[in-house]
Amino acid sequence: MINDKVIVALDVNTLKEEDRLLDILSEHVQVFKIGIELFYSCGVKSIELVKKYDKDIFLDLKFHDIPNTVYAASKLAAKLGVFMFNVHASGGIDMMKKAVEGAEEESEKLGVARPNILGVTVLTSLDSEALKKTGINKSPEEQVLNLARLAKEAGLDGLVASPEEIVSIRKNIGKDFLIVTPGVRPEESEAGDQKRVSTPKEAFERGADYIVIGRPVTKAKDPLKVRQSI
Ligand code: C5P
Repeated sequence: MINDKVIVALDVNTLKEEDRLLDILSEHVQVFKIGIELFYSCGVKSIELVKKYDKDIFLDLKFHDIPNTVYAASKLAAKLGVFMFNVHASGGIDMMKKAVEGAEEESEKLGVARPNILGVTVLTSLDSEALKKTGINKSPEEQVLNLARLAKEAGLDGLVASPEEIVSIRKNIGKDFLIVTPGVRPEESEAGDQKRVSTPKEAFERGADYIVIGRPVTKAKDPLKVRQSI
């Protein structure tokens, strides 16, 4: 059975490795995430390969640039036919609005559905101290909500959020906003470098719409078995 709420991160750097994972997993996974490692290694070919399997793509390139450049990049993301892509909410409201505008214009032109656009708030690798050093004197939680409100106002469709942020975002921003949650670990797997982790069940109970899972599946001896255990 295909569960389209569990997104698998294809964090590899060759088309051969990507193809291997798609071949093993595509019967059970509908959405695959392409991040900077695979995209900078293999470019648009990595997207075309996922499409060959008739699967959907979350393009995780976290755009962060001036509004005009993000507008152009968002048009391209729409042209590539991805299901989702993301931008840094700290790029500001004008930049986020331009991302929506670019994707909308291109999708209309092509007569296809606009990709979902997600905001990245505070990277989960930053704690209070690290955030302060960037000049932001707010707690990570306050800054996440601050940027979440801005993303909503700009017309984004949702956020990438750690398991710990889901409840507060739902409470403050409402139901009508997608939450996509990485940092998820099945009970039996190692956390790796992810610090704030939860199980898939906890993440969905807290209100995540989608979870992203990478290494526990992709580095497993039997990726399909781990995927099926979720
Ligand atoms: O291997 P793992 O399950 O930790 O992979 C998680 C994926 O989600 C990676 O591709 C990583 O880049 C991404 N991600 C994350 N934490 C965020 C945002 C994205 O781990 N805050």
